[in-house]
Amino acid sequence: VNCLNSVQRTFRRSAGTERGAVQTEGTLGEDSGEKDGPKSFYELMADRQEQAEKSVLISCQSRTSEKKFLNFLSKHGDIKKHFFYESYGVYAVVEFACRDNVVSLLESAAIPSVSHESMVPFKSRLLSLRNHSSGESPSLPCQPQTTVPINELIQRLSREESVDEQISSLTEAYQLREENSRLRFLVCSLLKDIAAAYFPECTIKPFGSSVNGFGKLGCDLDMFLDLDTISGKNLKTPKSGLSLEYQMKRTNSERHVTQSILSVIGECVDHFGPGCVGVQKILNARCPLVRFAHQPSGFQCDLTANNRVAMKSTELLYLYGELDPRVRSLVFTIRCWARTHGITSSIPGAWISNFSLTVMVLFFLQKRSPPIIPTLDCLRDLAGPADESVIEGNDCTFVTDFSKILLQSNTDTLEQLLTDFFEFYATFPFSRMSLNIRKGKEQNKPEVAPLHIQNPFETSLNVSKNVNSSQLDRFVALCQESAWLLQQSETRTPTGVGGKHTTKPWGLATLLLPSQVAGVKGRKKRKPHHASERIKSLLESLKSKNDGKKNSDS
Ligand code: GTP
Ligand code: MG
Repeated sequence: VNCLNSVQRTFRRSAGTERGAVQTEGTLGEDSGEKDGPKSFYELMADRQEQAEKSVLISCQSRTSEKKFLNFLSKHGDIKKHFFYESYGVYAVVEFACRDNVVSLLESAAIPSVSHESMVPFKSRLLSLRNHSSGESPSLPCQPQTTVPINELIQRLSREESVDEQISSLTEAYQLREENSRLRFLVCSLLKDIAAAYFPECTIKPFGSSVNGFGKLGCDLDMFLDLDTISGKNLKTPKSGLSLEYQMKRTNSERHVTQSILSVIGECVDHFGPGCVGVQKILNARCPLVRFAHQPSGFQCDLTANNRVAMKSTELLYLYGELDPRVRSLVFTIRCWARTHGITSSIPGAWISNFSLTVMVLFFLQKRSPPIIPTLDCLRDLAGPADESVIEGNDCTFVTDFSKILLQSNTDTLEQLLTDFFEFYATFPFSRMSLNIRKGKEQNKPEVAPLHIQNPFETSLNVSKNVNSSQLDRFVALCQESAWLLQQSETRTPTGVGGKHTTKPWGLATLLLPSQVAGVKGRKKRKPHHASERIKSLLESLKSKNDGKKNSDS
């Protein structure tokens, strides 16, 4: 498909006119009402980073009055935004109008005096509010930072009136909120202050699902220590006359440099980082990283360095998600479905990763007729000179200006897309073919692997190399079952099961109930049950105690 031809659908952000479209509320740029159309990934990153630099994180006692708290802080400057959330106590994120306000606030803070412990005198923008005045105040209004439990989601979806509404409702319930997104950037900014002890010009940026538009409340925080922003890197030394260069330590490989930087920063995070616990250095992985928990935010953090290709993948996913609201809705739904059935897991292993699953959804949407999203090759052809990006010899160029992308007319509903997604992968020739979102076509597998999904930028790699055949079989079996369920009239309609306020699972909710094939090793033919019988037995199993545990998302 040549995306430059047969143009019928121009790009709009949060388009709500097509059936099945969902407002992209809560995405990264949600509060940026000034501009028409979407912000580029870079503008969004820059805006959020700037907000984070002007923000502080304060542990509060819940009996503090909000008004008193704000009056107290505004002595240091205007407060642009604040909110409270709960994570082992109540915390406040407070954004000031400028950096100087934060400096003033920090100057007024005391170092606590403790008698039985010693402390590392590392000052950061993570503070505690002490309240010595007496009197009770109403509890601080906390913003939720976690998703609804699966059983509650099933109930909520069951009350919707169409599958399209169910999909929109799921997206709404799961997506990152504006506040959660701010908190993620703030944690990166706090971490940057630690790394800046060695590299004053560095930045730490979130990548992966924290910023690609597909993040679910509670997802991990992937961070990237960016040293490319250091000045002098691209400075051309004159061919004649005098000039100066820094003397720098040399090692034999880029990987070794990354490992030693992460090793040292990891030590600092471990020994000096307020609120950072359980630090693990995983330096021999393909992508070396430091893993830890940031207690005040509740985020599981993965800090990497020199990981620019992953940043590009993040930008690409963000772009696809912004092109058409159905992309995000379908990805959220498939991710939730996969997690519920144990197709994906928070533990690394032979399972399909969320990243692979997202690429599978993108590939499916490229294969629609007409396609809902363009191929990566097409996005590359639309790129201008400023978009050019070659990382370690890999062509990572694609257009960043959304307005250059023109889409074809496709009015498929979300319900149709969901059903067809399951059918598409229930019958996909995985044994012979590889998925390629660069070309938008399946290709003969270049190597033996149960599931082959070409890495969009490092094209000789398979992003699902870790997946074994039994995991792939489970995925295919569940696709078959879900496709079948969605075709049953009992599953597809909410009618006749108790009126508007019914809580009997139907439609998408049925697909999130424990599966009859999920526990089966390999693929087995299932006896066709009558749909109502199956729903009844699925309902029974939902009621049983253990299922809460089985389904709970970590
Ligand atoms: P969550 O499961 O919500 O954390 O999704 P995620 O997209 O953040 O995935 P994850 O934390 O596993 O990885 C973070 C990012 O690293 C992804 O979004 C990708 O950009 C990149 N990434 C992860 N796995 C792979 C892979 O196998 N190959 C490549 N090229 N990039 C990957
Ligand atoms: Mg992640």
